[in-house]
Amino acid sequence: MTTKRLILAPLRGFTDAVFRNAFQRHFQGVDEAVAPFVTSIKGRRIKPSHLRDLAPDDNRAMSVVPQILSNNPDEFLCLANTLFDLGYREINWNLGCPFPMVAKKKRGSGLLPHPDSIDRMLDKTLHGFTGNLSIKTRLGRFSGDEMDRLIPVFNRYPLARVIVHPRTGVQMYTGRVDLEAFDVCLTQISHPVVYNGDISDLAMFQLLESRFPSSSGWMLGRGLIANPFLPEMIQSATRIICHRNTRFKKFHDDLVDGYRRQFSGPGHVLDRMKGFWFYFAANFPDGRRIVKRIRKADSLDRYRHAVTAVFDGQDRWG
Ligand SMILES: Cc1cc2nc3c(=O)[nH]c(=O)nc-3n(C[C@H](O)[C@H](O)[C@H](O)COP(=O)(O)O)c2cc1C
Repeated sequence: MTTKRLILAPLRGFTDAVFRNAFQRHFQGVDEAVAPFVTSIKGRRIKPSHLRDLAPDDNRAMSVVPQILSNNPDEFLCLANTLFDLGYREINWNLGCPFPMVAKKKRGSGLLPHPDSIDRMLDKTLHGFTGNLSIKTRLGRFSGDEMDRLIPVFNRYPLARVIVHPRTGVQMYTGRVDLEAFDVCLTQISHPVVYNGDISDLAMFQLLESRFPSSSGWMLGRGLIANPFLPEMIQSATRIICHRNTRFKKFHDDLVDGYRRQFSGPGHVLDRMKGFWFYFAANFPDGRRIVKRIRKADSLDRYRHAVTAVFDGQDRWG
């Protein structure tokens, strides 16, 4: 059996170092992670707090690629070289962020209608680069046709790989992924291409794998958070995983402990964990009711009580 290269997607507010480390302690099957973006900043002084999630001592469990959101080559280079000095070998450039506040400032997916700006940015940045650069992109901001002008730009530079989420920016995270357009990217981009988008179960993965055997990797985001056993299922090509309830509960408790150490007050821990249940609940038969009950918890004690009821009660892990 061949192993598939599985990559944990960056999800700001979810797949930070606490999550990545807890995931590695309890599950298998993921080869590396692209970390949620850090924004480039004016000036040469980058405070350690800006890079807290990427502190090398907290990132030894899983191989991590930092990601930068920027449209300024000097700022990008300064931040990238700081990260290379910390020991990272590859930096990923975010060309996918769909949020209007970001995109309107020509950052993330907001750069995609401007291939000349991307060209200039790559040209200037790569001159001073001491490591590898990869890109995570959508098909375009407004239309998948934008990719026709982006591919020749990507192909002009020595990129380590291009991760493609085949949606447009304006689609945000809904609507269908455009597999025909991904096929074009896979054929025409001269760098290794990684697929990302909607891998939420084994069947979807197998469909994609048989359709795109030359994809150099598979990036999983929401599907993995909802079902952290998914990488093991994919690697072993089976749905049968033993002791799921017990393993998931231990992972969950580890996450809570990690965030209690990281955040100053219980309110932040509570907010973060409630965020996770938006995804976790999808794998419980009675997900909606569970989320409602957990959202009502106004203290960590009440939260724990609600979660214990989930694990001990009828709401067995699907
Ligand atoms: C809450 C949230 C935060 C995200 N943060 C980032 C980010 O920091 N950088 C990035 O490139 N993509 C980010 N994404 C996009 C995901 O990495 C991924 O491309 C998208 O969710 C599609 O993959 P999936 O269907 O496997 O989740 C985010 C998505 C969500 C839902």
